[in-house]
Amino acid sequence: SAATLGGYPDFMAKEINEQPEAIERLLHDRLGEHGIEMDELNMTAEELASVDRIYLVACGTSYHVCLIARAMIEDWAKIPVFCEYASELNYKEPLVTDHTLCVIVTQSGETADTLTAARRMKGLGCKVFAVTNVLGSTAARESDGTLYVQAGPEICVCSTKAYTAQMVACSLLALRLALANGQMDQTEVERHFRNLQAMPALIREVISRRWQDQEASRLFRSAHSALFLGRGVNSTTAYEGALKLKEVSYLHAEAYPAGEMKHGPIALLEPGFPVVAIVPADHVHDKTVSNIQEVIARGATCIAVATDGDEKIAKLCDNVLWIPPVPEEYLVPIVAIVHLQMLARYVAIARGCDVDKPRNLAKSVTVE
Ligand code: G6P
Repeated sequence: SAATLGGYPDFMAKEINEQPEAIERLLHDRLGEHGIEMDELNMTAEELASVDRIYLVACGTSYHVCLIARAMIEDWAKIPVFCEYASELNYKEPLVTDHTLCVIVTQSGETADTLTAARRMKGLGCKVFAVTNVLGSTAARESDGTLYVQAGPEICVCSTKAYTAQMVACSLLALRLALANGQMDQTEVERHFRNLQAMPALIREVISRRWQDQEASRLFRSAHSALFLGRGVNSTTAYEGALKLKEVSYLHAEAYPAGEMKHGPIALLEPGFPVVAIVPADHVHDKTVSNIQEVIARGATCIAVATDGDEKIAKLCDNVLWIPPVPEEYLVPIVAIVHLQMLARYVAIARGCDVDKPRNLAKSVTVE
């Protein structure tokens, strides 16, 4: 059954490896006359076209999905998006219009804070749409529409395959909205869809490079803390990479948008301090390279996540977690995070931690 290890040493390893199939399942039969078929939204084309504001609400790893989703929805569908931690939104007044859509992202569909937020937004007259991994969960039952990410049961307490699958699910939602409100035509939607279809093979390639993460994990042996840096959508990859490391290895980690390092975290740097910099081939690449130079100048150890063929990074950094070229900048987080999931797992194992059941954490937090 899905709840057995099937030859893997732990569920974290198994679920990292299941990411390509999960995304393949999710994309299956999605392309159609509406660009992206998403009847589960239970909204007419007119209703979709009239959405003028979106609240993305979640907790934990699912909140990081929201940050990536915001970038895509704003750029592709040109709809303003507010991202909120459910536990924060619940104690303030949301700015709801007559055509605000609320999307909750929740792997389990049972997180109390997220459910409370959804009920509240519904009470304010919003349509609530759930992106969840669990069939018939409370989030699914109480929402106006539900998109099942179909990643299969996630057993490991820390989320891996649900994270990447939820990002793909939100990309589909962004494309559906963009076609509905006329910001994109069918040809453009199809082009983006083809890029999503490239994700499983790219993730498989990263998984085959896990030896790079195993090697890099040695650099954390005597560390007490680590800093993760990234720009644009990959500032989120930094947040999620730091969260994974904290959750499974109990090593303190914090994440910053790379350009903000000079406003504080740079004070932490000293010889041997591990800094993980996500620096793929994108429009902010050179800016992040400057940050890496600052890191190295202070004797800190830089572990880069970079794109194959990046000579600059190869010269600058001794430790590189290489990713293959990704056809679209917004989709890099889906590929890059796989290295950081594997890195966190190797660091945890070296420190003798139980990666599937970290102390103090629950798979689903059903209290507020
Ligand atoms: C817990 C889990 C996290 C998860 C968060 C939100 O804290 O340990 O891995 O990201 O809840 O869970 P949800 O099921 O709502 O996505």
